[in-house]
Amino acid sequence: MKAPTLDLQPTMYEIQGETAFAFLALAKKLEAQGRRIISFGIGQPDFPTPKNIREAAKKALDEGFTGYTETAGIPELREAIAEYLNRRYNAGVEPDEIVATTGAKTAIFLAIAAYLRPGEEVIVPDPSYYAYAMIAKFFGGKPVYAGMKFEPHYGFKLDIEKIESLVTDKTRIIVVNNPHNPTGSIFDADQIAELYDLARKKNIILLFDEIYDNFVYEEGKFKSILSFPDWRDNVVYVNGFSKTFSMTGWRLGYLVVRKEVIPKILDLAVSVYSCPPSIAQKAGIEALKGDWSEVYKMINEFKKRAEILYDILKDAYGIEPYKPHGAFYMFPRVRELLDKAGLSVEEFSHKLLYDYGVVVLPGTSFPGSLGKDFIRLSFATSTEDIKEGAKIIVKASKELAGAG
Ligand SMILES: Cc1ncc(COP(=O)(O)O)c(C=O)c1O
Repeated sequence: MKAPTLDLQPTMYEIQGETAFAFLALAKKLEAQGRRIISFGIGQPDFPTPKNIREAAKKALDEGFTGYTETAGIPELREAIAEYLNRRYNAGVEPDEIVATTGAKTAIFLAIAAYLRPGEEVIVPDPSYYAYAMIAKFFGGKPVYAGMKFEPHYGFKLDIEKIESLVTDKTRIIVVNNPHNPTGSIFDADQIAELYDLARKKNIILLFDEIYDNFVYEEGKFKSILSFPDWRDNVVYVNGFSKTFSMTGWRLGYLVVRKEVIPKILDLAVSVYSCPPSIAQKAGIEALKGDWSEVYKMINEFKKRAEILYDILKDAYGIEPYKPHGAFYMFPRVRELLDKAGLSVEEFSHKLLYDYGVVVLPGTSFPGSLGKDFIRLSFATSTEDIKEGAKIIVKASKELAGAG
């Protein structure tokens, strides 16, 4: 008989970990062996957390602010989040419609846990950040992938007709991440409006993850779902501090949802993690209300890096770069190169790492079926590394295709 400790409940076997973290571990191992590795892998700004935010955390520590807090987060933090969202999106969010969480990932977990019943379907654009599909499967739901449209030289667009055609009476949630990881897209405002109408018509929840809402490289292109008047009826909203303030390790994010359901969500949250880190919460207030000059500097820098990456990669063989519109990712098609080199995208990514010392993520890290033709590059890495790494990719593409 199988030992009970070996016998996990079935949906545990449905989920997989995050490829970005697996590549990070591989890269660290090679670096420990003395290899120089350039990483376009994990989505993490290379800038330090701004000084004013670090100082606020130190002050919180020195003042002994180190205990449990309210599960939803301290009132000043929720007020600061509400002010931020209302100033930017005219959203009318109230502090008691906000749950501060241990990162946006936890907000995604709570949202799906709260709404998805076993057997229900979650429509997820293909490709997408991996966590939505994993958590849906964990709760016995079924991810249904809606392929996005790739337009050479432009990037990706949502296919609203496809999404609509996939709606069934089991559809409970449509997930949208905007600006988009892994493609660097920002979805057109009229597409967001169409989705909003669709969700209202069909009584479906829109789980919107806007964690990259500050990484917008075209003025006026981004429209938040919170700017729609009746968002409360259909929208569950996720955002966080990891990307905008370069605070990935601080673990602070938030969920916005109508206030009637917050007490039940808090019952789950307190059972899982009690509260978000106290010190990070104080830092979060300073992040939102303090000086944003470092943040703007970082975003401007990323915009320049996207251009640099594009300018070099366009000389590669069989790689189709484009200029990202938002977030800090490019997701070029590499099908021609893979065919010529006789490699799968995973084999290509491993070859780049082991033979050339460059980390990219295979598109298959992002659930769905489109990823096998694409790679993801994060340009949240230094300009020198981008220049050097992109040149290596160009060289590798020619060598592997036998076209050099
Ligand atoms: C789209 C998206 N949502 C959520 C997260 C997780 O963010 P956090 O560090 O706040 O958990 C990420 C991180 O890569 C992401 O890309």
